[in-house]
Amino acid sequence: MHLDRIRRVGISAAYQAAGILRSLMGNISAIRTKKSAIDLVTEADTRSERAIVETIRSRFPDHSILGEETGLQAGKSDCRWIVDPLDGTTNFAHQLGLFSISIAFALNGQVVIGIVLAPLADELFVATAGEGAALNGRPIRVSHSKRVSESLLVTGFPYRLEAAVGPMLRRFSNCLYAAQGIRRLGSAAIDLCYVACGRLDAFWEQDLSPWDTAAGMLIAKEAGAVVTDFKNRPFTPENPEILASNGLIHSEMLSLLELKDTL
Ligand code: IPD
Ligand code: CA
Ligand code: CA
Repeated sequence: MHLDRIRRVGISAAYQAAGILRSLMGNISAIRTKKSAIDLVTEADTRSERAIVETIRSRFPDHSILGEETGLQAGKSDCRWIVDPLDGTTNFAHQLGLFSISIAFALNGQVVIGIVLAPLADELFVATAGEGAALNGRPIRVSHSKRVSESLLVTGFPYRLEAAVGPMLRRFSNCLYAAQGIRRLGSAAIDLCYVACGRLDAFWEQDLSPWDTAAGMLIAKEAGAVVTDFKNRPFTPENPEILASNGLIHSEMLSLLELKDTL
């Protein structure tokens, strides 16, 4: 398997999508909603995904592709691309420049390449399993913060609030009291990349999908992050819960995210 070629095609697909997103920012005609009234989809999401899928399909017609907007396009099950064509749609719809394109490639179920491109910042994060992670070609590493009290954390809020809001607010409140600060940027892929390059010390979120996390998870891990679920089990992209930290504050974060029964 020529991972170099796969990485090159993934990066080229990401830059094509970036061109589409740049040209559509501020020019969106219709915004629809998906499973909840705040879960948006725009022509930018669909056009970006179409361009990525076409690029991948033209080079690797037998690979399978899981895209957020089009679902699973079957192919060789051992070679699967996992694509979020626009991570941060709500920001994009409000012309807020924090959004990204996230493309992962999994071989036999293991993510081996992660690509996250933030077009407006012109920041390209890339990782290959076992080879480290880089931002615009330079190696990146996680931060050195030893305590949550000296850490800047980041999280996200789910679209389906009903069942999730209680536990989410309890976790948020625990972390808010313990940390130096908390941010909500609006793109899970960027959150993971910012942990990877040490701008942020930990990221958690409780209701994500494989396309949100697959690429960023590998980038964070390759930069030295510890990535688990809230029970400290190794993270896989099928798991909706993720905690990624610099490692040094991981056990403290796990105890802040644990929901102790309160009567
Ligand atoms: C969303 C973003 C956001 C996170 C949501 C995701 P989308 O992805 O990553 O930061 O909080 O849970 O669904 O819908 O913009 O691709
Ligand atoms: Ca997403
Ligand atoms: Ca998306």
